[in-house]
Amino acid sequence: MTLEIEDLRVRFGGVRPLDGVTLTFSAGLCGLIGPNGAGKTTLFNVLSGFVRPASGTVTAGGTDLLRLAPHRRARWGLRRTFQQEQVVAELSAAANLRLAADHLGGGEEGLLGFCGLEDPGRPAGELTLLERRRLELARALVGTPRIVLLDEPAAGLSEAESRELATLLQAVPEKFDALVVLIEHDVGLVAEVCASTAVLDFGRLVALGPTAQVLADPAVRAAYLGEAP
Ligand SMILES: Nc1ncnc2c1ncn2[C@@H]1O[C@H](COP(=O)(O)OP(=O)(O)OP(=O)(O)O)[C@@H](O)[C@H]1O
Ligand SMILES: [Mg+2]
Repeated sequence: MTLEIEDLRVRFGGVRPLDGVTLTFSAGLCGLIGPNGAGKTTLFNVLSGFVRPASGTVTAGGTDLLRLAPHRRARWGLRRTFQQEQVVAELSAAANLRLAADHLGGGEEGLLGFCGLEDPGRPAGELTLLERRRLELARALVGTPRIVLLDEPAAGLSEAESRELATLLQAVPEKFDALVVLIEHDVGLVAEVCASTAVLDFGRLVALGPTAQVLADPAVRAAYLGEAP
């Protein structure tokens, strides 16, 4: 599965959160990094249909995604999680998953186990943060996910918990034959689990390629790590 993004532009009044972004995510687990306000979440919003771009195209496995209504993108296999948690605290983990499965018209079998949630009957509100993040991932994998967009799933987790979640994320592309894009502020984590990474800054692509190479790029270090070029 490849995701090809071509000259994407988004304007909110005078703000240009995406200012002509062209990039291709090819396969596996891909990183998407950049400073606060760089446009990362806006890119996910365009891909999932929350925000309509002023111009640009998005092609996923030969399908013109922007021409599909948001719910049809979901049926096609586009999944996302949000920076703000989406699980329903009063419902059990299993009921939360079923809700997503009903909504998307897809299967949910084995997903809680795959995501490492041992006790499906517990209310989501009683789960730890890591367990809730596992549940959110499970919700994003119902049916036939083809592209899975994860917006800072490791935020707020300890380093050990982040590594645990990252190990799980690494297993997703092969098991589901899906492309996973991971927004993450912990560059060390991205370096560990993402073979390729894209860097945004002020709505523009700064670098794209093998993660180690990207992180060593002086333009990236200047933009993202605040170092002088
Ligand atoms: N609905 C909106 N109306 C106006 N401006 C917006 C809107 N959504 C985002 N922006 C602006 O667009 C820019 C990019 O925001 P975005 O949320 O995409 O950044 P981000 O890279 O996800 O940052 P963070 O790492 O903090 O989550 C910011 O300047 C933000 O204030
Ligand atoms: Mg964001």
